[in-house]
Amino acid sequence: MPKRSPQKEKPLPPKDRRSSAKAGSRSAARVSRSASGASRFGKRPARPVLTARAADKQRCYEAAVQEPDPELDFLCAAYRHHHGRAARPRLIREDFAGSAWNSVEWVKRSPLNRAVAVDLDRRTLLETSRRHTEPLSPEQRSRLRLVHDNVLSESLISNRAEDKPDAIMALNFSYWILHTRADLVRYFESCRRALAKGGLLIMDFVGGSEVFVPQQERRRCKGFTYIWDQASYNPIDGRCVNHIHFEFKDGSRLDRAYTYPWRIWTIPELRDCLADAGFAETQVWAEREDTKGKGTGTYRPITKHNPDPTFLCYLVSRG
Ligand SMILES: C[S@@+](CC[C@H](N)C(=O)[O-])C[C@H]1O[C@@H](n2cnc3c(N)ncnc32)[C@H](O)[C@@H]1O
Repeated sequence: MPKRSPQKEKPLPPKDRRSSAKAGSRSAARVSRSASGASRFGKRPARPVLTARAADKQRCYEAAVQEPDPELDFLCAAYRHHHGRAARPRLIREDFAGSAWNSVEWVKRSPLNRAVAVDLDRRTLLETSRRHTEPLSPEQRSRLRLVHDNVLSESLISNRAEDKPDAIMALNFSYWILHTRADLVRYFESCRRALAKGGLLIMDFVGGSEVFVPQQERRRCKGFTYIWDQASYNPIDGRCVNHIHFEFKDGSRLDRAYTYPWRIWTIPELRDCLADAGFAETQVWAEREDTKGKGTGTYRPITKHNPDPTFLCYLVSRG
């Protein structure tokens, strides 16, 4: 899941970029450790093997499927596309925020940035998030608001221009928790009313024939294996149940660490709902590929795509 889970292993960007981008710094760290003589017998002390009992499932989740920097870079690129090269979003709202990691990284980027993170799960939003919020300075913390509420709540819509977000992000396909067209349009409408004039609603999307097929995919992460389990799909009502499991090197597992009862939406359905909710325009942005078909980490609006078995993109709607 969520993120890039279905993305997993696929030509999916953030995750793939992260592994290649960080590889260099990891090996640099290794070299400097041995140069300093810290491991004088040529071996570093063995790290304790992570087990299901010791693991923090939220940390595993974040390591496996979240990566704020590319998401925030995309947000800025889409905003510039709509508002001109010099334009910068300043206030963002992160819906379905979980531990508010994207929002925390946003306020760290600039003293002009502010973020509102919204989630229904009080513990994840207010307690688990401390790992991200506690290192913030008081000044940075003053620009972050954690709101324990339903994304459908009217109280998220402010009449004060300075409290209207320039962009709302709903990531890792979280809006698929809204099962009916009525709820989806209600959510989109509430986002449009909350946004500043010309503000953007940014959602990620995964589609393609494989999304509908019960199957499991495994991906190795540092210290554990992430398993995305598409357990069931009912073509009559379009609903699926997906799980995330984590498996550790000692064979122990966190089974069903997360479960997602979702409705699988398609791009045309979403665009219709967004138009009904009053969004003037919805673009589909796909990652550019190099000549070998590898993702480049940059995106562009598209109107046509091959019917790939898995297809990841962003939907960008302008209010
Ligand atoms: C898949 S997680 C997404 C976490 C994180 N934003 C990410 O990108 O990975 C979905 C989150 O949505 C929250 N959630 C589900 N329904 C919600 C609702 N109606 N309003 C607010 N949050 C909701 C859950 O509590 C959960 O933290």
